[in-house]
Amino acid sequence: MSQGIENKVVVITGASSGLGEATARHLAERGASVVLGARRSNRIAALAEELSTKGYKAKAVQTDVTDQHQVKKLVDTAVNAFGRIDVMLNNAGLMPLAPLERLKVDEWDRMIDVNIKGVLYGIAAALPHMKAQKSGHIINVSSVYGHVIDPSATVYCATKFAVRALSEGLRKEVKPYNIRTTIISPGAVSTELLEHISEKDIQAGTKEFVSKIAISADTFARTVAFAVNEPDDVDINEILFRPTAQPV
Ligand SMILES: NC(=O)c1ccc[n+]([C@@H]2O[C@H](COP(=O)([O-])OP(=O)(O)OC[C@H]3O[C@@H](n4cnc5c(N)ncnc54)[C@H](OP(=O)(O)O)[C@@H]3O)[C@@H](O)[C@H]2O)c1
Repeated sequence: MSQGIENKVVVITGASSGLGEATARHLAERGASVVLGARRSNRIAALAEELSTKGYKAKAVQTDVTDQHQVKKLVDTAVNAFGRIDVMLNNAGLMPLAPLERLKVDEWDRMIDVNIKGVLYGIAAALPHMKAQKSGHIINVSSVYGHVIDPSATVYCATKFAVRALSEGLRKEVKPYNIRTTIISPGAVSTELLEHISEKDIQAGTKEFVSKIAISADTFARTVAFAVNEPDDVDINEILFRPTAQPV
């Protein structure tokens, strides 16, 4: 594996907006080759085009992370194009908040499919390549809600606790292959995440709270860059950050 960020091949799920998009820009500007996955192909194609025009290396592959074959294709495309995969950033996620008693069962299913199974499919796609290389770095996105539970966020919290649990198991398992693992748990960051809350009262309350304190998506990109940039023998396992003004 190359050291630092420059020349690393980084696959990012959920690269069409928010944290994933900011990280793609940040790492590409620092010399990484970025391979962008998301369902909105127009967005990731435009971002890849913009980065390529600036002289950076970027590719877009339309990907729904709930489909294991599409996630494998995303990673295999990166390996075919750039020769290897150094970093897998399992970032795609959604947060349709609602109390359990409102029985938004379809939303529970979607959160489990994207936030948990999508991360597992990312691991499944990247791990064989990284084991063969005897190097790599898998970064999974949890949340402050992977550490605390709020009643309007129970299922979302459960998915983000699950991301931490499977990342910790992965960390212990991949030591023999020289693979690093990082959990990043952000607090309130300004992105499109709240747009997918279907319960209008919950959405309004959350937006009001978040709009007062949220920090920019670049804060997340900088934490990813920090973990990736550390020397190969340093394994940054978990980063939890919040806006200074966020109380919980
Ligand atoms: N913003 C925050 O305050 C915050 C705090 C803690 C944790 N997080 C976590 O950060 C991650 C990124 O969220 P964000 O804040 O950047 O929100 P965002 O702006 O809504 O971005 C979410 C990304 O996930 C992608 N996505 C959703 N479903 C997908 C699917 N089935 N297949 C592929 N991609 C899918 C979206 O792309 P398409 O719609 O184009 O597919 C989009 O690129 C999530 O895991 C979220 O839980 C965010």
